Amino acid sequence: MKKELLELEKRALEELERAGDASELERFRVSYLGKKGLVTSFMRRLGKVPSEQRPEVGKLANRIKTNLSRHFDEVSEALASGKAERSTYLDVTLPGREQPRGHLHPISLATIEVCQILSRMGFRVVTGPNVELDYYNFEALNIPKDHPARDMQDTFYISDNVVLRTHTSPIQVRVMETQRPPVSVIAPGKVYRRDSDVSHTPMFHQVEGLLVDKGVSFGDLKGTLTGFVHQMFGRDTALRFRPSFFPFTEPSAEVDIQCVICKGDGCRTCSHTGWLEILGSGMVDPEVYGFVDYDPEVYSGFAFGMGIERIAMLKYGIDDIQLFFKNDMRFLRQF
Ligand code: FA5
Ligand code: MG
Repeated sequence: MKKELLELEKRALEELERAGDASELERFRVSYLGKKGLVTSFMRRLGKVPSEQRPEVGKLANRIKTNLSRHFDEVSEALASGKAERSTYLDVTLPGREQPRGHLHPISLATIEVCQILSRMGFRVVTGPNVELDYYNFEALNIPKDHPARDMQDTFYISDNVVLRTHTSPIQVRVMETQRPPVSVIAPGKVYRRDSDVSHTPMFHQVEGLLVDKGVSFGDLKGTLTGFVHQMFGRDTALRFRPSFFPFTEPSAEVDIQCVICKGDGCRTCSHTGWLEILGSGMVDPEVYGFVDYDPEVYSGFAFGMGIERIAMLKYGIDDIQLFFKNDMRFLRQF
């Protein structure tokens, strides 16, 4: 009986220590000190204790009841006066709760790496709006309203004069409008087109580049982009400049790199050609200078626009562009 009482006291005190708020405290009071509580029912059973032990057990029961009541009052007071965090109850031996650590999305990683390489060459990072005026996205880039070149990019229109930008090239115009040469900028960002299959998504990312100064030649364009490809994909990656057309550059070239998946032998990713297009580029068309009031007799320059998803796919060996946007943790955790 004495042992049982002492154990009850120990358990009660432990429980009291753990009580963190008023409702837990009340639960404690009911289950130990209340009318049907454990201590009270012990008192009632005292009558059944053999008479020679009764005084001693009775004394102990009384002491425990007083002790528990006193502790109960103390804890109630502490909680009521706001000292709810009772540091004495901190168990420093418990293992900590580990915070799940996030990391950057592969598209962010690729964008950062592209921008770092180009920044080291001297390009400054700028940005522009995602919702763009038709004027900057098309007209000032030498693509008039009824020009067939508008078909090259299937556009989301917000209104007649406002679009979701279809490329980062409008930033070229915005920069030249506010700055005199020499200019050398890169502009990363999201772009939007009605496009969707294994190598196209309706939203994707580009990094634009623009350099204008006196005496800039096509050789500078080739040197810059060759240097970029070698730093991004390694010195032994072959690349080629393939003649192309953009209304805002003349001459224009698209850059292909040797397929990093099959090393040029031909596979599904490169449509069995051994080459993959990563960017469009060219010498800024004198028509564009007319919109920003640069003198084409004095200045020349080059521009390029690369697809970040395409670059990330090649860099990380991914064969389906849709994977970037599915938010599948099994995929994302690998980066
Ligand atoms: C352009 O967007 C031009 N503004 C690039 C340019 C800039 C040319 C400056 C000259 C001077 P193009 O539509 O080819 O060009 O797109 C450029 C790159 O974006 C492509 O090489 C490709 O890598 C990527 N790309 C195009 N459409 C998609 C799409 N739907 N999904 C993912 N990537 C795409
Ligand atoms: Mg293209």
